Order: sequence, then structure tokens, then C-alpha cells
Amino acid sequence: MKTAVVTGGASGIGLGIVERLRADGLNVATLDLNPSAEDDFAYQVDVTKPDEIAEALTDVRTKLGPITVLVNAAGIEKYRRFHNLTFEEWQRIIDVNLHGVFHTVQAVLPDMTAANWGRIVNISSSSTHSGQPFMAAYVAAKSGLNGLTKSLALELGPYGITVNAVPPGFIDTPMLRRSEEKQLLGGTIEEHIQRTPVRRVGRPADIAAACSFLISEDAGYITGQILGVNGGRNT
Ligand SMILES: NC(=O)c1ccc[n+]([C@@H]2O[C@H](COP(=O)([O-])OP(=O)(O)OC[C@H]3O[C@@H](n4cnc5c(N)ncnc54)[C@H](O)[C@@H]3O)[C@@H](O)[C@H]2O)c1
Repeated sequence: MKTAVVTGGASGIGLGIVERLRADGLNVATLDLNPSAEDDFAYQVDVTKPDEIAEALTDVRTKLGPITVLVNAAGIEKYRRFHNLTFEEWQRIIDVNLHGVFHTVQAVLPDMTAANWGRIVNISSSSTHSGQPFMAAYVAAKSGLNGLTKSLALELGPYGITVNAVPPGFIDTPMLRRSEEKQLLGGTIEEHIQRTPVRRVGRPADIAAACSFLISEDAGYITGQILGVNGGRNT
């Protein structure tokens, strides 16, 4: 039985991925700032803190074995006019969305190279397709994540490790609902549905299905790819 770690696994897309991978038969541990109290393998970890990651993963290895699947879904966003964006705000967004992935990948690599097999999926964002006003830090971090994905794919392929990114667009999660409440979406979710080719909002399960495929044996020849899951909003 393979063991996966999902960051941001307590909410929204990350939670959908946890549920799907468990249904697929994997052992799954989650690293999240606000872990679920009901989940026996949920660890309270800030992905910007390598010591916290290392401590949690030591426990995961003891209980569930070597970690050969990693899905990075932890993320935060910030809507702020660039004129007013402070460097501290910029730094925190880059820290969580990009540096967090640096830390988790480095932490699991020894397990994957020892197994000569691994799967890494990075959840980026559809905003990287075209940019997004008032989200410069977030788009910069997520674009960096796409670039990191491509470079790691080339470097880690010889070790049997694939690295892909899934940029979601318009997925019904607490993050999206918060943005709607604050009127940051440029319209309601219902209005956006009318502008979405498949005429619905996305679900965490849509992203989870893509992850499930990308971590499967069948996807062993797919690496360095950016697989948009966005209902056709970005092509
Ligand atoms: N919902 C969308 O439409 C959408 C679109 C594009 C990209 N995304 C990306 O998908 C991912 C999941 O988003 P979501 O919509 O499910 O959001 P969400 O807010 O529902 O979930 C994000 C999770 O990440 C955790 N988290 C935040 N900072 C963390 C940290 N420093 N360390 C550990 N955990 C941390 C949160 O506690 C939360 O459980 C994010 O990376 C987000 O940027 C979402």
C-alpha cells in the first residue's frame, strides 16, 4: 500500500484529494495549519517551517511507511492593489505557495529516490494562464510553482519520479466562497457559471480525479505537464 502526503488536506481541494486517494487505496497523511480533529493522520504543520514538516514526516514514516506520493495543495491568496501591497504580504504569499513546496519536496525526496519511484503533483492556479489583477504575488508564486514543476520533472525523471502541476480554475471551496463574499470575483459564482463553457462550478473531486490519474502507474510517462482543470475557462 502506497503512502501519500497531502498538504492543505483539511479543506476544499486538498480535502477532496485526501478523500479520493483514500478511496483509491492509499494511506494518506495531511499537513495543514488547521488539521481536522477527526483525522488520525492529520498533522498541524505550517509548510513554511521545515522543522515542523520533518517532525510530522518522521511520525508518518513510522506509522505508514515511506512516502512516495506528495500532493502540494496548501495555499493562500491575497487580493491587493500592487501599489498598496507590502513586501511582508508579498513575502508571505511566496513563502506559503512556493517555498512551502520547496520544503515538502526536499523532505520526501529521500523516500522516493530510495524506492526509485515517486509521484509529485503541485496544485497551482488557472490565474497563471493569463495573469490576474490585484493578485500579483499569488500569480507570481503559482507561476513559479509551474516552473519548478517542469524543472523538477527533468531532474527527477531518472529516479522514477514524475512531477506535474494541476492549475485549478473556479472550484467551489471555502477559498472561492470567501472571495465571492468579499465581492472579489468580478461577479457572483452564478454569473461565472454562465461564462464557463461546461456551465457549472468545479468541485474538489474534479481536481482530485486529475491527481488520482497523475499519481497512478498509468501516468508513468506523463511528467513536467501542466494539466488545467477549469471547465474550459482557460484553454
Ligand atoms: N478554489 C479555487 O478555485 C482555486 C483556484 C486556483 C487555485 N487554487 C489552489 O488550490 C489550493 C487549495 O485551495 P482551496 O480553494 O481548497 O482553499 P482552502 O482555503 O479551502 O484550503 C487551503 C488549505 O491550505 C491550508 N493552509 C494554508 N496555509 C497553510 C500553511 N502555511 N501550511 C499548511 N497549510 C496551510 C489551509 O489551512 C486550508 O486547509 C490552493 O493552493 C489554492 O491556491 C484554488
